[in-house]
Amino acid sequence: MKFLVLNGPNLNMLGIREPEHYGKETYEYLENKVISYCNENGVECECFQSNHEGALVDKIQEAYGVFDGIIFNPAAYTHTSVAILDAVKSVSIPTVEVHISKVEEREDFRQISYIRLVAKKTITGLGTDGYLRAVDFLLDYLNKGESK
Ligand code: DQA
Repeated sequence: MKFLVLNGPNLNMLGIREPEHYGKETYEYLENKVISYCNENGVECECFQSNHEGALVDKIQEAYGVFDGIIFNPAAYTHTSVAILDAVKSVSIPTVEVHISKVEEREDFRQISYIRLVAKKTITGLGTDGYLRAVDFLLDYLNKGESK
């Protein structure tokens, strides 16, 4: 099993940006945490972060036929990007939407999520542990061979 962990804009600034929303763990810490957890569970994992919408679209397209699941925090693009929604739809890879903060308790503009239209599950407000719960979900989902 092989999972792609995608992170969108400004998540490379974890540990520095708005710790009241995103905590103090760095992006490097997050990557190591998810990779270790995946490996403990017998899953291969690749992490990719970009501040650019097109780079995220390219990475999703390249995932076709390579990855079994995607764990995706599109960050601000969650609320704006039809291109990212369409890319995930194009590859039909089961995808879990993750947000570090509890977006549903934040500003109105964060209540729109394009990726949610295609995500098998959404996890919010668990900090970086949310990525691990996404791994659990995908393992369960893929092992059961369920469809949405
Ligand atoms: C975020 C929430 C988004 O609204 C925001 O733009 C982010 C991070 C989160 O992980 O809580 O950059 O996706």
